[in-house]
Formats: sequence, structure tokens, C-alpha cells
Amino acid sequence: MPETARSHAISKAVIPVAGAGTRFLPATKAVPKVLLPVVDRPSLEYIVEEASRAGIDDVLLVTGRGQESIIDHFDRSPALEALLEAKGDKARIEAVKHSAQLAAITATRQDEPRGLGHAVLCAASHVGDEPFVVQLGDDIIDGRDTILPAMMRAHAQFGGIVLALLEVPTEHIQRYGCAATTGVATTLDGFDVVAINGLVEKPAPQDAPSNLAVIGRYVLPPEIFPALRETAPGAGNEIQLTDAMAALLAQGVPVHGVVFTGRRYDVGDRGDFLKATVQLAAEREDLGPEFRSWLIEYVNNELKQ
Ligand code: G1P
Repeated sequence: MPETARSHAISKAVIPVAGAGTRFLPATKAVPKVLLPVVDRPSLEYIVEEASRAGIDDVLLVTGRGQESIIDHFDRSPALEALLEAKGDKARIEAVKHSAQLAAITATRQDEPRGLGHAVLCAASHVGDEPFVVQLGDDIIDGRDTILPAMMRAHAQFGGIVLALLEVPTEHIQRYGCAATTGVATTLDGFDVVAINGLVEKPAPQDAPSNLAVIGRYVLPPEIFPALRETAPGAGNEIQLTDAMAALLAQGVPVHGVVFTGRRYDVGDRGDFLKATVQLAAEREDLGPEFRSWLIEYVNNELKQ
């Protein structure tokens, strides 16, 4: 059956989390980067919650050595729950149970840090012969502007590969995979869906075919696994997911991009992580009102000097 004619509902997400978090050292010396709190929850919890909200009930984390605490976070903690129960702290009991209730969460190990493509390949036996979602931990998508459902609908319509794209300033394109497009194919959930005819990993601005950056959300067909096995190390001497997708594109697999225009928080570097924390805290119902007043006062009084 041609890939485009498959009608699998997508039920699995793969989240590579093994990165060393070098940019956040020394905070990440003993704590995995994806457990760093954004306001009061690990950044990874936002990502798993996004998958859960999109109807995904099976999440595979691709972890590295020494990251068992990530699994603990998504497991029940009877001792902690009993302690909170004894104190009658119902709100916090719910908060600590929440992460374990989002999906069936399992983990597999990436034995060597050989790149994003290699991390995705580690999910091959868990995923099997189904299309699946990949989410990267550096992008938090605001729950009010969710993109995964539109991506899954685009996949149901066109098959093949569906990527999330974001228009970025030309000078930033070298941080991302970049897509060449042939125009808008349709509109879903208010987002333009474009047909893609070229993919290149981290091009120099003068070589970039567009300013549409691949952000960390993908719907991939199982054909990505044989393509990854055949992909030689590319940019940064790592096995690049972008190169394997480009190989499938060259074989005629349809590739589409959903152009995201909503709220997205980049937690990939320290400056952006700070901005994400401030934005998300300011929007919280419980913390927001007081924090916003303080922030306005701080900006007015302190930073003007
Ligand atoms: C990876 C991908 C890149 C994508 C980016 C999104 O790069 O290789 O194509 O644009 O994630 O965050 P990394 O950030 O791991 O260097």
C-alpha cells in the first residue's frame, strides 16, 4: 500500500532527551537539562502534556546514561503522596500525580551521543510499522496554540512527513533545519500547510532556500528508520534527522510543513530560557497577577537608571 494511503491513527511520540545540556552547565552537571524547571515544572512536562492533549497515549523517552531521574519524574511517588496526604495538601498531591497520568511513558537508552537522527533510530523497535510523532525538548508550544493536531491532520491528508515550521530572521536560520517550499497546499486549524521540496540542515544565511526553520515537532513515517540506517554522519559529524528526511523526499515521499504562528517558548539557550520562564510565569493564573505587577515596577524603577 502506498504510504499516502495509510490510515493509522497516531498514538506514539518519541522525545529525545539525552543531550548533555552543555549550554546550561553547571546546572546540568547532575540534573538532566529537561528537568530544569520552567516556573515550577520541568520543561519536559510541558512537552509530554502537549502530546497527551493531542491524544497520544504512548511516549518513549530516548535517554542517556545517568538520566534515571527523568523516569522517576514521570512515575508515581507513593511515599511523597503519603507525606502530602498526611498534611492534607490536596493541590500538591494532584501536581505530583499529574506527570504520571499523562501517558504510558517508557524509556530507551541511546548508548552514544551520535546525533538527533541516531536518537530517533533508537526508537525503531518501540515504534514498529506506524507513523509517529517526534518532539524536541527545546521548544515549548503554548497549550492555547497547539500545533500537533494540525500536523496529524496534515499527515492524514497527505501522508509522508509533516514538519512544524517557523519563520525566523534570516540571520538565525543557521541554528535550524531549513525548508524550501513550493507554496501553500491547504490551511488547517488556521495554519498554512506548505509543500516542501528541499531540506537542508543549518545552512549559512546566504545559502538558505528560505527563512522557514524546522522547529522541534515532526510526524514521521516508519520508512524513516531504514533511511536513518543509511544516513552517514552530516553536520557536526552527527547522524542528522534532516538528512534522512531529505533522502525520503528525494525518493518521492511527500513532505509538508505546518507554518506555526502561535506562542512558542525556546528553552534551548539561557537567554531564551529566561524569557520563557518570565512569559509563562506572567501568564499563570496563580502566580501571574502578583508577578506582573512586580515586573512592571522592576522595569520602571530599576532598569531605567
Ligand atoms: C535540531 C534539528 C534541526 C531543527 C532543530 C529544532 O537541531 O537538527 O533541524 O531545526 O533541532 O530545534 P539542534 O537544535 O538539535 O541542533
